[in-house]
Amino acid sequence: MSFKTVSFKCIGDDRGSLVALEANKSVPFNIKRVYYIYSTKDGVSRGFHAHQTLKQVAVCVRGSCRFVLDDGKQKTHILLDDATKGLLIEDLIWREMYDFSHDCVLMVLASEYYDESDYIRDYDEFLKIKGYQSQ
Ligand code: TYD
Repeated sequence: MSFKTVSFKCIGDDRGSLVALEANKSVPFNIKRVYYIYSTKDGVSRGFHAHQTLKQVAVCVRGSCRFVLDDGKQKTHILLDDATKGLLIEDLIWREMYDFSHDCVLMVLASEYYDESDYIRDYDEFLKIKGYQSQ
């Protein structure tokens, strides 16, 4: 499946690098929540859910990790290792994250406050909602 990325301008000078993210500009929604994942233990995979309506942009601001995005028919593996690139994940896409480097800091910008009722955590239910039956 295809996936969308967003690019952020890096304002670098002899002191180092700075990236600014702005709601409804470089990030294509109103940001209500930011969370970040770090100190992930060896061999851990996370995610394993989809969202009904939430939009998110994931940016690996340090280190690297990999995503699997799954639309119910096709899976795509994506490496995030660039603080100036964001992965845009819109509604009803199953996502998994794995292969976190020791120094990985994965920041996620979200369009809504945390709401457990927006999660689909069961893969068969995800396929049903997408209109596909599980095998
Ligand atoms: P979860 O979404 O399962 O993490 P991941 O998808 O990265 O594996 O969230 C883990 C726990 O953190 C769960 O108890 C819900 C809680 N949580 C919040 O309270 N607020 C948040 O914004 C997020 C993303 C999770």
